[in-house]
Amino acid sequence: MSLFRKKTVEQILKHSELANTHGSLAKHLGVKDLTAFGIAAIIGAGIFSTIGKASADGGPGVIFLFIFTALACSFAAFAYAEFASLIPVSGSAYTYSYVAFGELFAWIIGWALIMEYAIGNVTVAISWSDYFTSLIENTTPYAVPEWLRLDYFTAKHNFDKVAALMREGLDMAAIKSGTETANLVEGYLAFLNAPHFLGMKLIFDLPAIIINILITMLVYRGIKESRNASNAMVIVKIVVVLLVIFVGAFFVDTQNWNPFLPNGVGGLLKGISAVFFAYIGFDAISTTAEECKNPQRDLPRGILYSIIICTVLYVAIALVITGMVNYSELNVGDPLAFVFQKFSSLQWLGGVVAVSAVVAMASVMLVFQLGQPRIWMSMSRDGLLPPAFSKIHPKYKTPSFSTIITGVLVAVPIFFVDINMVTDICSAGTLFAFCLVCGGVLKLKMKTQVHQPKFAAPYINSKYIIPLLFLISVPWLCFEHLETIFSKNSNVNFVLFSEAGIDKIPTYSFIIGFAVFSVMAYKYKFSLIPALGLICCFYMLSQLGHKNWLYFSAWLIIGLLIYFLYSRKHSKLSTIKK
Ligand code: ALA
Repeated sequence: MSLFRKKTVEQILKHSELANTHGSLAKHLGVKDLTAFGIAAIIGAGIFSTIGKASADGGPGVIFLFIFTALACSFAAFAYAEFASLIPVSGSAYTYSYVAFGELFAWIIGWALIMEYAIGNVTVAISWSDYFTSLIENTTPYAVPEWLRLDYFTAKHNFDKVAALMREGLDMAAIKSGTETANLVEGYLAFLNAPHFLGMKLIFDLPAIIINILITMLVYRGIKESRNASNAMVIVKIVVVLLVIFVGAFFVDTQNWNPFLPNGVGGLLKGISAVFFAYIGFDAISTTAEECKNPQRDLPRGILYSIIICTVLYVAIALVITGMVNYSELNVGDPLAFVFQKFSSLQWLGGVVAVSAVVAMASVMLVFQLGQPRIWMSMSRDGLLPPAFSKIHPKYKTPSFSTIITGVLVAVPIFFVDINMVTDICSAGTLFAFCLVCGGVLKLKMKTQVHQPKFAAPYINSKYIIPLLFLISVPWLCFEHLETIFSKNSNVNFVLFSEAGIDKIPTYSFIIGFAVFSVMAYKYKFSLIPALGLICCFYMLSQLGHKNWLYFSAWLIIGLLIYFLYSRKHSKLSTIKK
């Protein structure tokens, strides 16, 4: 049997009806719900938290990164929308890859999506806990003990660092007041004061675990309940974001926008993972395809509406916060609350923002926690995962077993994971999925027997545009800091010969991939929108650093082992009648 055996669209649609012998999902979602789900999934830890560091690195010009990322995501969103209207079943990118590239790729993408949904939720749960614990501390006489709000390894790492500083002669007051050392104190205290359990220090992020359990219970209970909760949370979130924009606009000092790009393109690109993380989520809507009243009409609309609304809000927020304070002050975990707390007349709004951040992040978790079980459900229907994963709860009509396993999978890493690492890995897994979905649309269009989705991006021939883009971008790709080429004291570092060669492997891969893709675009007259989606997402993937590529590759190898040892043998593909 071929490694790339495929399903047809007709087989998938038929199979999704027949295979679900345990009952079908309840259909409650319309275009408004889907747009709300999109916004619920998109606006979260990214805009409330990671935008801070991205703005501090990139300056006010971070809006260019938001616009570029929005464009890249919109191109990918068109591809998702097109597939979602062609194959309205729950598997999202997994199912789309099955049709376009075959079972092996479908498995790989299903496996990669765990990075987006489950691992993404680890990031969001930890950020949620950060906001929640400081909210408790700032608004009540109580505080969550340090050993109940951190993971073990962060606490241990920070304890060792502080202990070393103390051995060097620094006292606690000096460590607490140092800009570089103040953030180590929490971990130090956590490790110092933690009780013992089975001979080990007991340190874990209790609020992150609790929010994960609560969200899992809600998602288990039903799509209708999840929808109502999500819609309510979205309203709170949008009202607060608009309040931030409109009130903040009166406090913008345009002097703060000068210089607009203080650290050049290099500084801007440092924020790529954080900014991309802020957009992740619109694709999660497509996993609810089987719960939509009219998926072929509503899914594409929901995806595109939510991405447009969020882009406008993000650019406005980035302009407001970089206009209210100097960009260099924004390297904080709660930038939106921070800018308002700087103005004495606006401190109340800082509090409101902090509360709404807690709500916003809970809604992101909700949508991701909905998405993961539905992808597993599709994989299980295909035989690639055990049958329990597609079991539908007889009363609540949700994929019950998968929902519980998702909760467990999110909970376990919370005990020991580093938040920055999971954010990058989540972005890597998601970008990989976006590349394959865009590639899938191009691949389907290459076939002679073209399917007619009810929604399709307008066709623009990329035959000349993509090769031209490649030629224009080669200098950007080959020289580390293009701006230095034009400066008199230029010391141009040609990346292909730079010392840190291994760091450049992702960039080499991108350059080679782009060259090959340009030839293909010329030959096959690819449609421009998915072609741009693939190139932009691949570019962002190449900027995530070689370590993330290594982690991601290790994850894929584990996935491939499972595929060849279990899934391939149990696949139902050969048993489906045409
Ligand atoms: N876009 C989502 C967030 O920012 C993942 O939290």
